[in-house]
Amino acid sequence: MPPAAMPASDELLTFEDVSVRFGDETIYEDFSFAVNRGEFLCILGPSGCGKSTSLRLMGDLLPVDSGVVSIDGLPPSDGWSKLAYVFQQPRLAAWRTALANVTLGMEMRFDGMSKAEMRARAIELLKLVGLERDMDKYPGMLSGGERQRVSIARALSVDPDIILMDEPFSALDMNTRRRLRAEIVRIWQQTGKTVIFVTHDIEEALVLADRILMLSNKPTRVLETLELEEPRPRDLLATESLQARRDHLHNLFRKLESEDDNTIEEE
Ligand SMILES: Nc1ncnc2c1ncn2[C@@H]1O[C@H](COP(=O)(O)OP(=O)(O)OP(=O)(O)O)[C@@H](O)[C@H]1O
Ligand SMILES: [Mg+2]
Repeated sequence: MPPAAMPASDELLTFEDVSVRFGDETIYEDFSFAVNRGEFLCILGPSGCGKSTSLRLMGDLLPVDSGVVSIDGLPPSDGWSKLAYVFQQPRLAAWRTALANVTLGMEMRFDGMSKAEMRARAIELLKLVGLERDMDKYPGMLSGGERQRVSIARALSVDPDIILMDEPFSALDMNTRRRLRAEIVRIWQQTGKTVIFVTHDIEEALVLADRILMLSNKPTRVLETLELEEPRPRDLLATESLQARRDHLHNLFRKLESEDDNTIEEE
């Protein structure tokens, strides 16, 4: 990886020469990258290359075999509290209303916060994600997109420095997905959080990211880094520079798939 363009203090999260193996399968070997403070980073790569694994390493849910993961200078065992997750499935408590699901996040993290304070904060965040009219509904009464909005509000409620999103919109229909993409960009702009967003959807990465890390097949490394300066909201179909990058990334994906087929044939 080339030297980071930003000074070290702007690097909020880093992987340095990280190696992870499961049994005799090597997932990463000397995998390195940095995430800058306030940036919207998309991690893009083929299925099974280790995108979700990288988020688990950040959240201290999995140890490295060697190398260093650092969150604002801390190991994940101390730095995890600076993170909050939004998963592919919203993982809400079915017996709690939207409002109570958002306060649950705070109850689990903040000892000293009063119930009234948690409630006020949850209401503010549910307004931010456009659910002011649905706060008293249970998850079973909410659409898939609304549920995912609750989980975004819950992630924001613990005031994390970094929001980790693992294919959060992939289970939603096309229109809802588009709307939520625009919303997450607005929320990111309003809150100034750092977002690490995992996806295998090229178009999604192109409309969202400041920077895209394109990962290789296993053993996984950063194949390419793309910086995107196009203003937001982005319209892929109306922007030639983005279309050129889309074509380039599609070609890379195709190459990775044929590499993968060759490996299977060799086995
Ligand atoms: N606990 C585990 N034990 C053994 N192998 C594992 C374990 N967790 C992940 N793997 C393997 O590690 C690789 C990376 O998995 P990971 O879930 O990170 O992929 P991914 O890039 O998120 O893929 P997808 O796009 O399909 O979600 C896969 O080959 C997977 O089978
Ligand atoms: Mg995954």
